[in-house]
Amino acid sequence: ENIKFDYSKGAIKQHEIQYLKSPILKAHEMLHNKTGAGNDFLGWVDYPICYDKDEFERIKKAAQKIRNDSDVFIIVGIGGSYLGARAAIEALSHSFYNEIADGPKIYFAGNNISGTYLKHLLEVIEGKDVSINVISKSGTTTEPAIAFRVLKAYMEEKYGKEEAKKRIYATTDSKKGALRTLAEKEGYETFVIPDDVGGRFSIFTPVGMLPIAVAGLDIEQMMNGAKDARVEYMEEDLEKNMCYQYAAVRNILYRRGKTIEVMVNYEPSLHYIAEWWKQLYGESEGKDGKGIFPAAVDFSTDLHSMGQYLQDGRRDLFETVLNIESPKLDITIKEDEDNLDGLNYLKGKTMDFVNKKAFEGTLLAHVDGSVPNLILNVPKMNEYYFGKLIYFFEKACGISGYLLGVNPFDQPGVESYKKNMFALLGKPGYEELREKLIKRI
Ligand code: PA5
Repeated sequence: ENIKFDYSKGAIKQHEIQYLKSPILKAHEMLHNKTGAGNDFLGWVDYPICYDKDEFERIKKAAQKIRNDSDVFIIVGIGGSYLGARAAIEALSHSFYNEIADGPKIYFAGNNISGTYLKHLLEVIEGKDVSINVISKSGTTTEPAIAFRVLKAYMEEKYGKEEAKKRIYATTDSKKGALRTLAEKEGYETFVIPDDVGGRFSIFTPVGMLPIAVAGLDIEQMMNGAKDARVEYMEEDLEKNMCYQYAAVRNILYRRGKTIEVMVNYEPSLHYIAEWWKQLYGESEGKDGKGIFPAAVDFSTDLHSMGQYLQDGRRDLFETVLNIESPKLDITIKEDEDNLDGLNYLKGKTMDFVNKKAFEGTLLAHVDGSVPNLILNVPKMNEYYFGKLIYFFEKACGISGYLLGVNPFDQPGVESYKKNMFALLGKPGYEELREKLIKRI
């Protein structure tokens, strides 16, 4: 049993793969010898074996404490400091986790600037025992900073400063940033995001590990998955490395004008894996006027909304299906005497059987509609395979970026909106830009 990449429905010719053998090898060497662009952000490559083991134990202890003394756990963070934990918790926990959780209910904050959302959250947690993990690598991101200012004041009023500080955990840079200064001054327990790991590659660091452990998930197994993936996807021969094959095939399709990659799933719990994946690929590849646009759909739900476009709209897309081979649970469809709904032909079949037929039928229809389909077969969704899958995508992303000729590890584009927003808000230091922008509005 293993994760398998199947591109037989991708309309790829074998010689196209052959032609990429040497560029892939070059990208592999750039990544492993740290000679490519962004080489000071490659800490994630060996992180599954190099991580701080003492800190990992401290994460488990903190998670246990939070599970023992809290009804509610709030994760404050955005982008790379948010999506990984959410992807794991949604993919691996009960679909209605907060309704039946044997640990704290989990909420997310600081991933938007909505006062309505935060006010509603404060209403929901009223009268409950709360712990908070505030996560920010830079320590200065506006969304989590505002949410944390509000939540910190709430906690201090509720518990007093002394007890509040025992319930707030900060994950940030080891030295720099406002959150580091604040955490040290207030005496919060802190966890470190290494300098050489960028936000979207940080799920295996405390950024992901603490919230995931609080949800009662096995972070040891997740790390094992990443560890095995690190070895498996280190293979430099394209023909033996499925992770590199994924990078190669999407590059071939991109050059053919398939500039949109649609990630498809058939399990609602995978929705946030696609959200995490969108950030990983969008931020890594979308620069210098280049890059595949990463999009995502949840099937069969979205077959009833986006199905028409996918089948028949502009032909500039390809799909990558995340196929979980064995579902966590299943339901067998029973015979009904009256058969008024006409479903008796499915008697004795499971819902997963029907779901898989929807997958196969859609796959063939979309291929007939000139949408190349790539399939990632994952044996089951557990901590181990989740860890492996995440590392698969991270490694393929680094290789994809180098194949495309971009720096996959920076994100200069996300600064532009921030500058404008700060100027319009009147942040000190942005006076000149403010003048210019106000004239344009
Ligand atoms: O990948 C990135 O760099 C961004 O998405 C960041 O993760 C996001 O902006 C949050 O940044 P920070 O962790 O510094 O608050």
